[in-house]
Amino acid sequence: NEKALLDRLKRPLKDLRISVTDQCNFRCTYCMPKEIFDKDYPFLEKTELLSFDEIIKVAERFVASGVTKLRITGGEPLMRKNLPELIGELNQLKGLEDIALTTNGVLLPRVAHDLKKAGMDRVTVSLDSLDSELFGRINGRGIGVEPVLEGMRAAHEAGLKVKVNMMVRKGVNEQEILPMASYFKKTPYILRFIEFMDVGTTNGWNMKEVVTKEEILKILQSELPLHSVPENYYGEVASRYQFADGENEIGIISSISDSFCSTCTRARLSADGKVYTCLFAANGTDIKTPLREGASDQELDALISRIWENRTDRYSDERRDGAAKRKKIEMSYIGG
Ligand code: GTP
Ligand code: 5AD
Ligand code: SF4
Ligand code: SF4
Repeated sequence: NEKALLDRLKRPLKDLRISVTDQCNFRCTYCMPKEIFDKDYPFLEKTELLSFDEIIKVAERFVASGVTKLRITGGEPLMRKNLPELIGELNQLKGLEDIALTTNGVLLPRVAHDLKKAGMDRVTVSLDSLDSELFGRINGRGIGVEPVLEGMRAAHEAGLKVKVNMMVRKGVNEQEILPMASYFKKTPYILRFIEFMDVGTTNGWNMKEVVTKEEILKILQSELPLHSVPENYYGEVASRYQFADGENEIGIISSISDSFCSTCTRARLSADGKVYTCLFAANGTDIKTPLREGASDQELDALISRIWENRTDRYSDERRDGAAKRKKIEMSYIGG
């Protein structure tokens, strides 16, 4: 797309990740620990959320500015009512190539079919362990593995492509790396391992708890030989590896040990209408107010250009280089 905006580091704007709610039916220890995200937590009010019409307008202007890929996130995006309606509208946008969803999966059996019918292409389901007891502890709600696998099945049967995200944290679930790889190798789903990241302020992140890409590969290679394969598209987040027997592939997302800011093409829209240019940003730019004050398409486009063309974010690279800590937003607010 020749129209793509470039930021200060010459990175094109290609993806928009849209958070549709900051609520979630899970309380994963590394994302929304239940001690903090309790009934007194200041979740967004209904009136603060962008309406579907507002989300569609923002998405339309981003697509007009060169975005070809949308990802719907949360919190848990399926907690937003009538989500398939939104997907149906987004799917009409000219120039869009891909609409995906990031979900914990348990609500998929109810809506997978409607999502597919509305034009969704694929879903990414989070699952950190195949051991229900351990998984129940990690998700903070005692939810077992079966409802999540059920969600994947429903998505697959509805015709959606399925990927699986496993967050790996040392001392918590690294022993699940091999069982997860062996299990998903035999499914139509692509498993990706994510290094435990220092997103947000509540998960007590520590470098010692990171299992690096190299360590994950070593564990995998001990039983399941793999070889590296080239990326599917410019700026793909996961490094891909194929099993030697040709049966399926896996991905590793190494935001900590091998950061990928130099090809980061992603903008993020929070559920309350702020645009963030980094997962680790402290502040976003309000696009809801201009929208509600009746800004024209031209004015919205100018705002988007200004946001992207001034972008200098490279947080993960800075972290690797030992830069100082800073204030950050929560992952459940911006959707990962
Ligand atoms: P595909 O379109 O299937 O390639 O998906 P994706 O890997 O771009 O998106 P997904 O939401 O599955 O990403 C998985 C996880 O990678 C996210 O939840 C984050 O934890 C991490 N991630 C994605 N994008 C970024 C990013 O821009 N920066 C950092 N640091 N991590 C990211
Ligand atoms: N580190 C790594 N991955 C995380 N996720 C949420 N918080 C973190 C974190 N601190 C994962 C979720 C989900 C995706 C959106 O990001 O498990 O798969
Ligand atoms: Fe919810 Fe996903 Fe965060 Fe877990 S990681 S609390 S499922 S948003
Ligand atoms: Fe992009 Fe920020 Fe992640 Fe780097 S840390 S890849 S700039 S979102």
